[in-house]
Amino acid sequence: MALRKIVLSEDEMPRQWYNILADIKMNPPLGPDGNPVSPDALAPVFPMNLIEQEVSSERWITIPEPVMEVYRIWRPSPLVRAINLEKALDTPARIYFKNEGVSPPGSHKPNTAVPQAYYNKVFGIKRITTETGAGQWGSALSFACSQFGLECKVFMVRISFDQKPYRKTMMGVWGGKCIPSPSMETKAGRDVLAQYPDTPGSLGIAISEAVEAAVSDTTGQTRYSLGSVLNHVMLHQTVIGLEAKNQLAKVGEYPDIIIGCAGGGSNFAGTAFPFVLDKINGKNIEIFPVEPAACPTLTQGPFVYDHGDNAGYTPLLPMHSLGHNFVPAPFHAGGLRYHGMAPTVSQLVNEGLLEAKAVSQLEAYEAGLIFARSEGHIPAPETTHAIAQVVKEARRAKEEGKEKVILFNWSGHGCLDLGAYEKFLAGELTNPIFTEEEKVKAAEAFKNYPRPANLKSR
Ligand SMILES: Cc1ncc(COP(=O)(O)O)c(C=O)c1O
Repeated sequence: MALRKIVLSEDEMPRQWYNILADIKMNPPLGPDGNPVSPDALAPVFPMNLIEQEVSSERWITIPEPVMEVYRIWRPSPLVRAINLEKALDTPARIYFKNEGVSPPGSHKPNTAVPQAYYNKVFGIKRITTETGAGQWGSALSFACSQFGLECKVFMVRISFDQKPYRKTMMGVWGGKCIPSPSMETKAGRDVLAQYPDTPGSLGIAISEAVEAAVSDTTGQTRYSLGSVLNHVMLHQTVIGLEAKNQLAKVGEYPDIIIGCAGGGSNFAGTAFPFVLDKINGKNIEIFPVEPAACPTLTQGPFVYDHGDNAGYTPLLPMHSLGHNFVPAPFHAGGLRYHGMAPTVSQLVNEGLLEAKAVSQLEAYEAGLIFARSEGHIPAPETTHAIAQVVKEARRAKEEGKEKVILFNWSGHGCLDLGAYEKFLAGELTNPIFTEEEKVKAAEAFKNYPRPANLKSR
C-alpha cells in the first residue's frame, strides 16, 4: 500500500534556507532618482540585519536556533500523497501536497513571520507594522510577535476585514491590533478615502499605510514587515521546498510538475525555488505559479519597474505588474489581490523558467470542493487556485496516459473562509474578469518609469 504521509523527524529539518539570488541574475530595485537603492535608504523601514539578508548573494543562509525552536511547534510539515484525489480524478498521476495548513495561524506565512520577528527583536525593535489581505499574514505576524514579545499592528484590506471577522479576533488573541484599511490613521489612507469613500481597499493601499505608520514613529522603535514579494521572504519560505525534496527522496520520487498559487509569490517560491536550481542545472520540470484570472499579474501584466504599494513609498521593483493603482475586483482569495509579484518570481517567468497560469474564481472553488470531498481538508481560497491547476494537470496526465509526479503546496486551510464557501454552495459567487479597459488604465501607472533589462540566468 502506498504511504500516505511522508514525515520528517525534527532532526531532519533543514538547517539553512536556500537563497536563489546566488543562482540567478536580477535587475536592482531603483530609488526615486532612478539609481539603485542603497541598503541605508531602507534603514527607516526594515532592521539592518534583514536588509543584509535582502541583498545577500550567499547560496545557503543558516536558520538561527531561536527560529528553529519556534519552527518546531509545527515543522516539519507533512508531505501527503493525495491518494483519494488521484482516485477522484481517475488519473495515473501521483499527486503530493505539502500541508502548510498545520501551522498555528493555518498557512505557510509563519515560515517568514517568525524569522522576521526574531531579526527585529535582536535589532532592538519594539513594534512591527504590516498589512494583510486574507488575514493569514496578519495572524502569522501576530503569532510570531507574541513568541518574541513584540507589539504588532496590522492594516487589513477592508473587504477581507468585512468578509472574515474572526481573523481580527485571532490576531487579538496573539496580542496583535488589527484595523481596516484604508483608515484615517495615515495620510495614505485618508487620501484614498477622500477620493473613494467606498473602496474595498487593496494590498497596495494597506502596504502604504503600514510603511507610513512605521517610518513616522519618531522614537525609531518601529519597523515595517512585508509578508511576501521581497527576497528575504522568498528565502525564509524555502524550508517548504527543501523539506519536500527530502520527503520525496525518501519514497524515491522527483516531481515532473510543481504548482503553487501566487499572490506576491512567497509560498510558490518557497516550494519551487530549491527545484528551480535543478532546472537551471538541466532537469526537466514544469513549474507553474497560478494566479486569479481577475488579478492576472504574471499572465497579463508586463515586466516593468513599478512601486510595490499604492502611494509610491516603496522603491521601484523589477516585476510583472498591473500598475500600483490597480484595485482588483473584490473576489474571495484576498491574499491573491496584489498588483505586483515578487521580483525573483517575475524574473524567472520573464526568462521562461516558470510558466504562469490563471484560473477563475469559480474554477478555483470547484477544485476546492473536489479536494475537500476527497482529501478532507478544506483549502484556503488562495490554495484552491493551485488545486485547480493540479486538477487540470492530473486530467492532462490521464489524456496522455502518463504517470506524472505532481508536487503542489497546500498553502493554508480555509476554516476561517467559510463565508465564501457558503456563497459558492448557494450559487452566489461570481466570476470577475480582468478587462481590457482595466489593463490599459493600469498601465498608465508605470508608463514613465525605466524598463528592466531582459537578463538570462542560464
Ligand atoms: C493561504 C494563502 N496562500 C497563498 C497566499 C498568497 O501569498 P503568497 O503568494 O505570498 O504565498 C496567501 C496570502 O495571504 C495565503 O493566505
